[in-house]
Amino acid sequence: SSFEACDFVLFGTKGDLSRRKLLPSMYQLEKAGLLHAETTIVGVARQTLSDEEYVEEVRKSLEEFSGETICEATWETFKARLSYAQVDMKEIASYSSLESHVNPDRVMVCYLATPPSIYGDICRGLHGCNIIDSSVRLVLEKPIGHDLESSKVINEQVAEYFGESQIYRIDHYLGKETVLNLIALRFANSIFTTNWDHNCIDHVQISVAESVGIEGRWGYFDDAGQMRDMVQNHLLQILSLVAMEPPANLDADSIRDEKLKVLKALRPINATNVNDVTVRGQYTSGFVKGKEVPGYLEEDDANTVSKTETFVAIKAEIDNWRWAGVPFYLRTGKRLPTKVSEVVIYFKRQPHNLFTASFNDLPPNKLVIRLQPDEGVEITVMNKVPGLTSSGAMDLQKSKLNLSFSEEFSDDRIPDAYEKLLLEVMLGNQALFVRRDEIEQAWTWVDSILAAWRNTNEPPEPYQAGTWGPVASIGLLARANRSWYESK
Ligand code: BG6
Repeated sequence: SSFEACDFVLFGTKGDLSRRKLLPSMYQLEKAGLLHAETTIVGVARQTLSDEEYVEEVRKSLEEFSGETICEATWETFKARLSYAQVDMKEIASYSSLESHVNPDRVMVCYLATPPSIYGDICRGLHGCNIIDSSVRLVLEKPIGHDLESSKVINEQVAEYFGESQIYRIDHYLGKETVLNLIALRFANSIFTTNWDHNCIDHVQISVAESVGIEGRWGYFDDAGQMRDMVQNHLLQILSLVAMEPPANLDADSIRDEKLKVLKALRPINATNVNDVTVRGQYTSGFVKGKEVPGYLEEDDANTVSKTETFVAIKAEIDNWRWAGVPFYLRTGKRLPTKVSEVVIYFKRQPHNLFTASFNDLPPNKLVIRLQPDEGVEITVMNKVPGLTSSGAMDLQKSKLNLSFSEEFSDDRIPDAYEKLLLEVMLGNQALFVRRDEIEQAWTWVDSILAAWRNTNEPPEPYQAGTWGPVASIGLLARANRSWYESK
């Protein structure tokens, strides 16, 4: 990968994702000196807009969403890169307006921040206008499909014009610092590398809790549900990174090959076991962080008979040598008490307890990898309480070895996931992007669960907004004498 100039063409530049995330991230890269001096940014949308008006709009987005006061010196450089091209994305002829914006001698990056239903049209249009060659990189946003079949249709449409080595499928969790750190933690520390299997680990928990509801996205969300919106992509990506074998090196395909193997080893969930190993919920009205919020069926534009799930808990099993008998419990939901994502590794208990005088049941060590917020890594250990006792018995206490990112790296701002991913696209490194076979394998597993749910014809279990989901989710672990990790 190398640092070279590119033309960054942003389809759907007026959309929510562009305004909230992509443009502010490009601005941050500018500020950090990570945009090549000759790189340009071309906004593309259907509306008529002059370059000046576009620059104004971008400025407004930055003010609204960058979360900081705009640095005028940075803005001057940034603004000089911007131009606007009007394209009716369904009209092949209309793509010729891009020609004057891009330089055929430079790499062109096309970011499709549009509904996936028009990916095919955009690829055809780009192909028709003679500006693409094999150096073009295409960035695709999720959702790639609604199920395996529809994701294949989209992937096929794109594959007609672009090779896999040109396609960068986004899962923004792969751009999060702490998610990337899973690779460093696992493979740069022998203490973890040598203890990372069924001999030492009892089970793993992956929780991605959100306090938000569906934020006015009813139309999208009700069709998708938490399973497609979060599990199919983000949770399965985290699971793959936690569970994969050591890759031969850090090349894109070395990593993606190993992740794919994990997805292939996931034990299928279908009508025979779905009730034992999954829980789905839908929130009712309640209080989140002290604020009263409506139930899912009472949201604006709600379909009051919807059976869409806003909470999912799954006991996943990976049928391979390393993880035999080690469940991976996944949990994610909207309108939970707080926003927190973490991976918790529960190590096996000690085979024998020497300390029955102070601890009847010696708790297991836990490795808590906190993905967001308050990023950090924590290990719980048993420690002797210092001091003398009249009985002479050793008093033990559960304590923490705690690495907090904000303390350890206090000078460093943690970049947004999109900053990292945009930079990687411009560097031409596909390691943090999802390959077609991974997406399709993930859909295969998810489709089977969704089908089993549909067949039961039952609605999801209600849970009050501001709680940790339906009680059945507690039962899922309690049956095996386990419980969900309680975040601080
Ligand atoms: C998106 C989902 O992919 O991820 C949203 O579509 C969800 O529903 C979001 O809220 C969560 O991302 P983050 O970065 O806030 O954890």
